[in-house]
Amino acid sequence: VTTAAVVPAAGRGERLGPDGPPKALRPVGGVPLLLHTVAALTAAGSVGLVVVAAPGERLAEVRALLSGTGATVVAGGASRQASVGACLAALPDDVDVVLVHDAARPFAPPAFIDSVAAAVRAGADAVLPVLPIVDTVKEVHGDLVTGTVDRGALRAAQTPQGFRRAVLAAAHAAAGTVDATDDAGLVEALGRPVTVIEGHPEAFKVTRPVDLLLAEALLARREGADGQRG
Ligand code: CTP
Ligand code: MG
Repeated sequence: VTTAAVVPAAGRGERLGPDGPPKALRPVGGVPLLLHTVAALTAAGSVGLVVVAAPGERLAEVRALLSGTGATVVAGGASRQASVGACLAALPDDVDVVLVHDAARPFAPPAFIDSVAAAVRAGADAVLPVLPIVDTVKEVHGDLVTGTVDRGALRAAQTPQGFRRAVLAAAHAAAGTVDATDDAGLVEALGRPVTVIEGHPEAFKVTRPVDLLLAEALLARREGADGQRG
């Protein structure tokens, strides 16, 4: 009975811009993004082991980077789904709960990560943290607006997403050519229930350059708070 965290970290980060290393290795506060993510997961008491899918050509570098963390590093795939699949294949038999967490969300608070694991332990097959949509949502065809979407029932999905291991394994096995951008989507496709819990604003994803500025600011605030305590 162990909870594992699976971390897809093999993406390039195209939306961050063409320059620089893969997104997981971009520095935030002088430290590669991935190291912040793994530190948050290992700080979560519920997480017993961490498996990271790294860009294949950076495997040795990522292993060296994470050598002090106890994380296992495998080669990722061409899609996020394939990278998660590579991590799942590396899990030991005694793992019964799996959290899938984007490397690109470095600042999910450990207590928030634990709350996702706890919701699975409490009986849910699949747990998805969500936040309300803050922008007004439009439907557009070409350069014309064709409608305003009622956002009342819409939510933005975050990670970590939590799963009973057997459910996630079945969802990935059944996925075939379906290319979902998250793992809860594969469980939905299977027709199994996905339970939502409230997301966390600090679990935001670093996607565009402005998100790196937000990450730097959040880190600086946290380090400032630590300095005042110490
Ligand atoms: N990911 C992965 N393997 C891939 C593609 C994505 O492990 N082949 C991971 C990313 O490293 C990231 C997470 O999936 O941690 C969420 O994906 P996203 O934010 O889209 O990251 P990228 O695909 O790297 O970014 P972009 O789409 O802008 O290229
Ligand atoms: Mg992507």
